[in-house]
Amino acid sequence: MSAVALSHVYPLGSRLNERGRLEVGGCDVVELAAEFGTPAYVYAENDMRARARSFVEAFRARTEHFEVIYASKAFPCTAAYRLFAEEGLSADVASGGELHLALAAGMDPKRLYMHGNNKSPAELDYAIESGLGHIVVDSFDEIERLRGRGQRVLLRVTPGIEPTTHEFIQTGQVDSKFGFQMGEVERAVQACADAGLELCGLHAHIGSQILDVDVFEKLGELLGGMGDWPLLNLGGGLGIAYTAEDRPPSIEEYVDALLRHALENVTVLCEPGRALVGNAGVTIYTVGTIKRIPGVRTYVSVDGGMSDNLRPMLYGARYEAQIADRFGGGELSTIAGMHCESGDVLVRDVELNGPRVGDVLVIPATGAYSHAMANNYNAVPRPPVIFCTDGDARVVVRRETHEDLTLRDS
Ligand code: LLP
Repeated sequence: MSAVALSHVYPLGSRLNERGRLEVGGCDVVELAAEFGTPAYVYAENDMRARARSFVEAFRARTEHFEVIYASKAFPCTAAYRLFAEEGLSADVASGGELHLALAAGMDPKRLYMHGNNKSPAELDYAIESGLGHIVVDSFDEIERLRGRGQRVLLRVTPGIEPTTHEFIQTGQVDSKFGFQMGEVERAVQACADAGLELCGLHAHIGSQILDVDVFEKLGELLGGMGDWPLLNLGGGLGIAYTAEDRPPSIEEYVDALLRHALENVTVLCEPGRALVGNAGVTIYTVGTIKRIPGVRTYVSVDGGMSDNLRPMLYGARYEAQIADRFGGGELSTIAGMHCESGDVLVRDVELNGPRVGDVLVIPATGAYSHAMANNYNAVPRPPVIFCTDGDARVVVRRETHEDLTLRDS
């Protein structure tokens, strides 16, 4: 077949095999579709491991004092927690549910951080009773809720830094529901002491899908100048490539920026989510109907949509798409989902190579915040998660069934 270069958005180690079909983790995705059905989230396990190692090695080359924390909201499933724990990472959890998953995966509770602007009393109890390492306190109300518990905490501050990214995923700006305003930090430090909490350091997360490392350097400098703390957690946010044109900074450049102003004895923590899992996963679908409206548009409809990937609808996120065994272009197409609303479009205006009913269609770079934000709109069962390594595929989250959909009803 003619050589079609695979864009760097595909999982590391992906290729088009001798039959011209996409292989992820050594597995032919057309065969995966036949075996496991569609839609399905397919991950290359080695991609996630390689990225975890890149973070660890980038830090290790520059300092002894660091901790890489998997921001598990990007892809909360027990297999992912286990994989990253094996690679030596800690994890953060943003709810009691994520804590439950992390513990079910066998993670050491001491290696867990808990976030949230409104953690419930039950969630805080669950965290403390589980022996969770650090709660990242977000408000004066929360400090009150933790009074007398002697918990180790970090203080989340809102540094007033606005990275260039979608407004919904900016978090460092002054007008934010998260964290303490800069002018409140001194009072919050005192409040922690009064409440008998063991304050170990500061935390800030300025946003997500950030493609400019300068803001991370600025953040490191700002937090580093806010007193003498053993731990400085600079959050997550490193962006990834969703399309061939995207050129995100490397993990090394990112870590370099985080550490540029770090003092010798300070342990620098970071919490990547998307950058660990985003490019490791692709979603496979089956093309069901094709509607060609002459002079207007070709709708290629697949068997999933806004129930398995909300990002195009929420953030206007742009993805690539290809027919899994016929990479290339030729026909301008719009990939629509199967849900009953017109906004259910996964990719607008993408070139496909003569799409046909029954084709397996692949959308790459869906490893972060797709499974995580999957939902049951139209009572559509959520897809399985399949991990692929060296040609072996295993289901790590099974497909939801119709029976699952009625389990909670009485
Ligand atoms: N730490 C904290 C406190 C966070 O709130 C987040 C993400 C992260 C770390 C990880 O950020 P990452 O490295 O993945 O950028 N649903 C949105 C993303 C929301 C991110 C929320 N917080 C999306 O699909 O783009």
